[in-house]
Amino acid sequence: MGKTTANETTPLITTVTVGPPRRRYPHQTLRRLCTIALSSSLVALLLTFLVTVVFAPARRHHHAESRLTYEELQSLLLDTPSAEKASEWSKYYTSGPHLAGKNLSQAEWTRDHWDEWGIESEIVAYDTYINYPRDHRLALLEKPNAASNPEAWKVAFEATLKEDVLPEDPTTSLTDSIPVFHGYSASGNVTAPFVYVNYGTYADFEDLVKANVSLEGKIAIARYGGIFRGLKVKRAQELGMVGTVLFSDPGDDGEVTEENGYELYPDGPARNPSSVQRGSVQFLSVAPGDPTTPGYPSKPGVPRMPVDGAIPSIPSLPISYVEAIPILKALHGYGPKAEDFNEYWTRNTGLGYKGVKYNIGPSPDNVVLNLYNDQEYTITPQWDVIGIINGTISDEVVIVGNHRDAWIAGGAGDPNSGSAVINEAIRSFGKALESGWKPLRTIVFASWDGEEYGLIGSTEWVEEYLPWLTVANVVYINVDVGVRSPVFDASAAPMLNKLLYDVTAMVPSPNQTVKGQTVGDLWNGHIRTMGSGSDFTAFQDYAGIPSLDFGFGGQSKDSPVYHYHSNYDSYHWMAEFGDPDFAYHRTMAQILALTVAKVSDTPLLALNATDYAVALKGYVAKIEGKLSSVDSSDYKPSSDDEIIEFRARPADPVLQGDPEAFSLSLARLQKSIAELKDAAVNLDAKSDELAEKANEHIPWWKWITKAKLLHEIRATNTKYKNIERAFLYQGGLDGRPWFKHVVFAPGIWTGYAGAVFPGLVESIDNKDYVNALRWVDIIDDCIKTATETMK
Ligand SMILES: *[C@@H]1O[C@H](CO)[C@@H](O)[C@H](O)[C@H]1NC(C)=O
Ligand SMILES: *[C@@H]1O[C@H](CO)[C@@H](O)[C@H](O)[C@H]1NC(C)=O
Ligand SMILES: *[C@@H]1O[C@H](CO)[C@@H](O)[C@H](O)[C@H]1NC(C)=O
Ligand SMILES: *[C@@H]1O[C@H](CO)[C@@H](O)[C@H](O)[C@H]1NC(C)=O
Ligand SMILES: *[C@@H]1O[C@H](CO)[C@@H](O)[C@H](O)[C@H]1NC(C)=O
Ligand SMILES: *[C@@H]1O[C@H](CO)[C@@H](O)[C@H](O)[C@H]1NC(C)=O
Repeated sequence: MGKTTANETTPLITTVTVGPPRRRYPHQTLRRLCTIALSSSLVALLLTFLVTVVFAPARRHHHAESRLTYEELQSLLLDTPSAEKASEWSKYYTSGPHLAGKNLSQAEWTRDHWDEWGIESEIVAYDTYINYPRDHRLALLEKPNAASNPEAWKVAFEATLKEDVLPEDPTTSLTDSIPVFHGYSASGNVTAPFVYVNYGTYADFEDLVKANVSLEGKIAIARYGGIFRGLKVKRAQELGMVGTVLFSDPGDDGEVTEENGYELYPDGPARNPSSVQRGSVQFLSVAPGDPTTPGYPSKPGVPRMPVDGAIPSIPSLPISYVEAIPILKALHGYGPKAEDFNEYWTRNTGLGYKGVKYNIGPSPDNVVLNLYNDQEYTITPQWDVIGIINGTISDEVVIVGNHRDAWIAGGAGDPNSGSAVINEAIRSFGKALESGWKPLRTIVFASWDGEEYGLIGSTEWVEEYLPWLTVANVVYINVDVGVRSPVFDASAAPMLNKLLYDVTAMVPSPNQTVKGQTVGDLWNGHIRTMGSGSDFTAFQDYAGIPSLDFGFGGQSKDSPVYHYHSNYDSYHWMAEFGDPDFAYHRTMAQILALTVAKVSDTPLLALNATDYAVALKGYVAKIEGKLSSVDSSDYKPSSDDEIIEFRARPADPVLQGDPEAFSLSLARLQKSIAELKDAAVNLDAKSDELAEKANEHIPWWKWITKAKLLHEIRATNTKYKNIERAFLYQGGLDGRPWFKHVVFAPGIWTGYAGAVFPGLVESIDNKDYVNALRWVDIIDDCIKTATETMK
């Protein structure tokens, strides 16, 4: 399988290697690529001409019988994906457990099918540090009073820590189903009083500290939501708590709840009360990937770093709301109530109708929880599948990925709707290859392993091939949850916005209530900024490759509740509620295929530099707005996103430096961005002009004109390719040097949500204007480098 041998790579990547997979490109060295990419010598020009002459549109028009035109390619990519096939792939992937590193046969199946469809594929393995659940217990223990004899503990409630088996849903009765647990959680056996900590955000914990609620030595009971789960455990641990229990509150399910009269899954769309959200508690916003190999690939035999500060040291367990109820009720009468705090504690408290009062506690010494968590930690292979379509231009590469691993046997939404979608896209490209098509740019397809634990398969791969990706990768396209609702949702680097609008306007929506309406017509058009939480992270935030992530993964008011990371994210749920006839799977495959076609097969790279400049200007404006609000005590966040961001960070840091001086420095950034915008507008205009010329027929005897045009196209594309790289700062973000992008990163205290200008914004949040000024300098340099790149 893996092409890995122990001596191939050193951890610091001292030798520049070109991938993937390396043995396919033995003749290409970085120097050679650079020569082709950067040299403007006549030799390179002629070389370029010879290599790329095949993509001259003239040839396509004149030899249409041997090569698809771009329009023909688009039709083929719209016609080939099938709902039936997507359903078949969904059924395959969800018919057995495929936890990271546990299901080689699914990797082999994927490779074999991609091969069969004409895309040469292979398995790439990494040896990663990972945990698997061995045993667990959660019990509520009581004794009549604290003073009586220590033997008198009674089990008041023993959690089953199991999701109900449903006769209607075969996935739930698999005998080898995966226990409820947290990826990268610590083993431990703690017995202690407990405290309800709301969402477990930074501000929630601050509220508790201010109210003198004793936290040290206690177990935290937090509801899921808002911020990444690992950060809840992190803050509990920092405050001396000894364990964390996380439950799913139906209050966060929106409209579709039992309280509002909806039937429960499997009879209806409301959350099944026994559903449990598994998930990783790695400290994702610090660094993703194998926590023992930050910044280098987990090849066999590499040195490994200690994991302190990367994963929790206190045990944690996820539970269902039905099992949270007795625990929350045991707090009744103890400590303050949620309503004694601010409105963030009474939002979405969905268990009120079950009689839960959301008391804070702590529970008295004679009412305790026993939380026992036994995890097997091991170093074991994980298997990425990598498939390649060689393009004409080998140093312009488009990468397309989906992860394959799931927390459960099912995973029909997360991630295997995406797996079904990418398979249908690949099968469609296979058909194109059959008819003699060859893309301009090389396309790499990836089926990542280990995403769920911490984006491991993709992060290790990017760390291994960084030198090559830096030279060659033009765009990364991610599909994680391909479909879980009819609501299209996307996040993207701004240079890719236009691409998303263009493609969604071409694909018909399965919803034909209004005849002829496209996905674009029904989409609200909102493109989120790149945060973290899926496999684009290493590409965007570490390697500086413009990335996008999309799928029908949005939520509308009346969408059926999606049982995230639960046994009920099953084929049955998908076929009954998520996407009954797999029509949205088909549509998503069309969207993915057309997106890949557009970035890999149009002469000019489908990137828009102006949109980047416009976005940057907006981000600075947002910071100016933030500055005026950061000191005002009556600031009230309004949107859900603002609330999450506001509640995720410390409230009253000590002022350092001069806010006025900092405020003025923002004008400097705006000036640099204005210059960037001028350069961007020029570059986009040049690109438009070249695109038109590329469409014109140039007779063969005007080969010099043609070679010149090709050279100009190439030079323009190289500029686009390098823009995003300019925003990498090698020193990395404060306290998390793995994150190198100065514009995009996950919020340090939110984990998922994208923070823009993270270094700057975190400094402002900390009221550290000395450091904020430092970040203005760093960002200003990046903007100027980007401007030079465009010229
Ligand atoms: C792609 O190119 C590499 C290197 O040039 C070559 O080794 C490989 O066989 C090619 N793959 C296909 C499917 O043509
Ligand atoms: C891997 O997944 C397949 C279904 O996709 C399943 O049949 C098989 O039992 C799984 N293997 C393991 C080792 O769990
Ligand atoms: C956990 O610790 C308790 C004592 O605190 C002990 O009674 C129990 O046996 C331990 N559980 C396991 C599984 O070791
Ligand atoms: C918390 O304790 C401190 C010191 O013991 C006291 O000054 C303060 O009033 C207490 N706050 C609350 C909300 O009880
Ligand atoms: C279907 O399209 C109609 C008309 O545009 C729209 O009102 C409705 O909300 C759509 N339904 C879904 C599930 O997208
Ligand atoms: C780039 O985006 C700008 C602003 O959105 C737009 O005016 C321009 O036409 C776009 N150019 C290309 C080549 O897409």
